[in-house]
Amino acid sequence: MAEVKKPIKITETILRDAHQSLIATRMTTEQMLPIVDKMDKVGYHSVECWGGATFDASIRFLKEDPWDRLRKFRDGFKNTKLQMLFRGQNILGYRPYADDVVEYFVQKSVANGIDIIRIFDCLNDLRNLQTAVNAAIKEKADAQVALSYTLGDAYTLEYWTGIAKRVEEMGASSLCIKDMAGLLVPYKATELIKAMKETVKIPIQLHTHYTSGVASMTYLKAVEAGVDVIDCAMSPFALGTSQPATEVMVETFKGTEYDTGFDQNLLAEIADYFRPIRDNALETGLLNPKNMGVNIKTLLYQVPGGMLSNLTSQLKEQHAEDKFYDVLEEVPRVRKDLGEPPLVTPSSQIVGTQAVFNVLMGERYKMVTKETKDVLSGKYGATVKPFDKEVQKKCIGDTQPLTCRYADLLEPELDKLEKEMAQYKEQDEDVLSYALFPQVAMDFFKYRDAQKTKVDATVADTENGAYPV
Ligand code: CO
Repeated sequence: MAEVKKPIKITETILRDAHQSLIATRMTTEQMLPIVDKMDKVGYHSVECWGGATFDASIRFLKEDPWDRLRKFRDGFKNTKLQMLFRGQNILGYRPYADDVVEYFVQKSVANGIDIIRIFDCLNDLRNLQTAVNAAIKEKADAQVALSYTLGDAYTLEYWTGIAKRVEEMGASSLCIKDMAGLLVPYKATELIKAMKETVKIPIQLHTHYTSGVASMTYLKAVEAGVDVIDCAMSPFALGTSQPATEVMVETFKGTEYDTGFDQNLLAEIADYFRPIRDNALETGLLNPKNMGVNIKTLLYQVPGGMLSNLTSQLKEQHAEDKFYDVLEEVPRVRKDLGEPPLVTPSSQIVGTQAVFNVLMGERYKMVTKETKDVLSGKYGATVKPFDKEVQKKCIGDTQPLTCRYADLLEPELDKLEKEMAQYKEQDEDVLSYALFPQVAMDFFKYRDAQKTKVDATVADTENGAYPV
């Protein structure tokens, strides 16, 4: 009997997560476009190329319109699905938005070329995902729900299968396990993927980071256990704090029932294109060699690599580097007090900063950040475990915590935003850029205007015969 083929599908992350994780999201559209044609021929399940921090970095640092980048990708990728990362009710920003903004953002993302929207919430509170999921379905895009993977007492197999079932019921077209810290070790992946495949019918995708060094082995076990799609990055921007290398995973499954059928020569040409960009980033210091190695502390302390470096720099600013290990021990305690959330943007920053305060003040919760109070007031949503009652009382007193979805309290805000930025509007999408990053978008609009004046002047000069024919 012929062997049943079950080719493993690959999402390529080099145009989003890989450069976000390794070079602070600084790859430009100009650097990406020349290779799109070749990438389109590989046969990827999808190319993750938009969302996450790319939107912010585009307008803030690169002075590029992210919408324009997306349209150019859409023109170039004729056969490949385009995928983006979406922070639930926070969209691509850092505060919860009213539903009308979330819906409009989804609508415009799809209209400009996105096929798959990966939506996550830092607390895995599915209420924070429902609006975006519904909007994606309405726009006929794939709504993928990503569960933020973490370890802890609350995160049993029953928890993961239970929530997976609910994800399927809420209408998601696929489910992703998003392991931002690289905590999922190979044999646990076998257990987890098997249990999930037995629970839901929708495809399951695995996203991890190489930070702790186990990621490629985790993919191997996950694929054997039946996972449908894995996230990989072309080798010049793979490993370290990024994903396992595409070429390596392709070769691993060659000649097996999971064979991707990808052309290694084509992949080699694509890698040749990206390698000088990596080398240049190393030379300019944009790529820190520290991010390329294995960071085993991330497994020991169960915190993402990015959080470790944030803590180091926060302590350095306070001249308290000697307190690093005290803070690392305080992190899991604060996490427990706050209902044991996964540590991903923004919960990782909230827990980390509060842990630093608790250690430096010499008394726990003597100083409390606004964000810690917001978590304890239920503004970010429901946590898997209850908050520590005493800590809650000390931080927010007798304030009655929210039990509803925070966004239910928000009035529609699109009209107001439109009015504020009307004079700079050149395309419908501009109001969304403004909604996410008001100040940065305004600076960008002004920059864009100035550039236009320049171009107009050049055209005028040419018309006046300033250039020889
Ligand atoms: Co990631």
